[in-house]
Amino acid sequence: MISSQAHLLATATGPHLYWITSRAAGIAALVLSSLSVCIGLLMGGRLMRGRGPDLRATHEALSLATLAALLVHGLTLIGDGFLRPTLADIAVPFVSSYKTLWTSTGIVAFWAMLILGLSYYARTRIGMQRWRRLHRFTALAWVLGLAHSLGEGTDAGQTWFLAMTAIVVLPALSLLALRWLGASREPQAGVA
Ligand code: HEM
Repeated sequence: MISSQAHLLATATGPHLYWITSRAAGIAALVLSSLSVCIGLLMGGRLMRGRGPDLRATHEALSLATLAALLVHGLTLIGDGFLRPTLADIAVPFVSSYKTLWTSTGIVAFWAMLILGLSYYARTRIGMQRWRRLHRFTALAWVLGLAHSLGEGTDAGQTWFLAMTAIVVLPALSLLALRWLGASREPQAGVA
């Protein structure tokens, strides 16, 4: 019974297996990156300072899981028989003719997340102060990833997709807004 159901599922998804896998991985990347941004902002903000568990390991695990999901998201597209993208189509902005602007937004977001994320492991070489300033741009990369998800995805018009996105994205956006408001109110160095 179970094996015949599995066979039915494999037959139904067969020609679209790569496409479906890529989309599922894209959705996983959006959820994981949103949670990671939330935890990162809670760690650095006043809300959690000095209280609660050490969230650093969770933040790191979510960030690495995001990068893994993004690799699956991009690379499985190469197997899609309809789109048939080359490596350049999925890795270089403005090369793909498929929804060029939104695909390019995703590619820029991916490279930014990869470079900014992995720069953590070179933070002592970069210098802590400089690395912290650099790390703030991760939020921008995440916003680009969000724009790509809403602009490009087949599921972007579906209620379940919008509800799921709202659940993970709204808390992160609120924390980001609080951070920017707080930063703009902080007195500038050298200003009385
Ligand atoms: C190498 C970079 C990337 C490439 C080449 C890429 C490519 C694509 C393509 C072609 C689609 C269209 C799928 C469809 O029409 O349903 C898509 C959808 C999507 N992408 Fe990306 N993307 C990249 C990066 C990202 C990033 C950084 C995120 C988020 C963190 C992301 C999240 C999503 C989501 C959530 C969807 C919607 C899936 C759906 O509607 O089922 N992608 N991406």
